Amino acid sequence: MKTVFITCSPKKNLNASAYLVAIQGLFVKGRKVTKKLRHKSDYAGIFEELKDAESVVFCTPLYVDGLPSHVLAFLEEAERFFKENQLRLNLYCIANNGFIEGKQNEPLMQVLENFCVRAGVRWCGGVGIGGGVMLNVTRIIFMVQTAVFIVLNIINGIKNGVFLDMGILSVFLKNVGLLLFFNLGVLFFLIWMGTAINKRMFFGKRYTRVLVPSFIFIPFANVFFILISLFKGGLFRGWLARK
Ligand SMILES: Cc1cc2nc3c(=O)[nH]c(=O)nc-3n(C[C@H](O)[C@H](O)[C@H](O)COP(=O)(O)O)c2cc1C
Repeated sequence: MKTVFITCSPKKNLNASAYLVAIQGLFVKGRKVTKKLRHKSDYAGIFEELKDAESVVFCTPLYVDGLPSHVLAFLEEAERFFKENQLRLNLYCIANNGFIEGKQNEPLMQVLENFCVRAGVRWCGGVGIGGGVMLNVTRIIFMVQTAVFIVLNIINGIKNGVFLDMGILSVFLKNVGLLLFFNLGVLFFLIWMGTAINKRMFFGKRYTRVLVPSFIFIPFANVFFILISLFKGGLFRGWLARK
């Protein structure tokens, strides 16, 4: 069994779609190939992989309540490709959006469902995930916390000879537990969809979100986006990104 994951975020690095593909990949058996869809030059490589695949998973951000325009352009070509090669793939989707409600991905799902009818492939459903930006931030915080945990233990080891301090470990585990909690909805639905992909079954449209109450999410999101706009789109993508 071969599954092709297509990450459709136009962002080069650290995008939420890649994070979600990485999680989904853990629960899918068989051969797995991940391809990026950012430019027209990516089409050939993706089509090559699709030729002998059983399933394809589009992992995409929601843009203006729909699919990003570069994904729509790809789907036009893909429709021709699927028909010409008479491919009968199972198509799944992982959509993520910035607002908290995962249900906002419903129009995007409908577009993909209609595409499947036109292209003659099998629509199998997908997961719509709200609070994608915040979920993506949880994995960045996890990486930072892990690095801090290692550095603190090294310093402690050099100073006191104890390379695994129980106090540092318990703080680390508490923080990781909290980050994991935020991701529980995503994990639950991606494990479930993984079993559907493995059995080549219809999954249906499911919606989830970052597990943070809206009254906490909204002020945090407001502060986050004010800071991001002050840094003209983010520290990494603004100041440090290659132009
Ligand atoms: C041009 C643009 C349009 C967007 N439109 C929406 C939208 O309509 N609704 C929403 O909830 N989020 C919207 N977002 C937020 C993205 O869906 C969100 O940042 C997502 O996590 C990006 O995923 P990625 O990191 O995989 O690219 C938009 C973002 C951009 C840049």
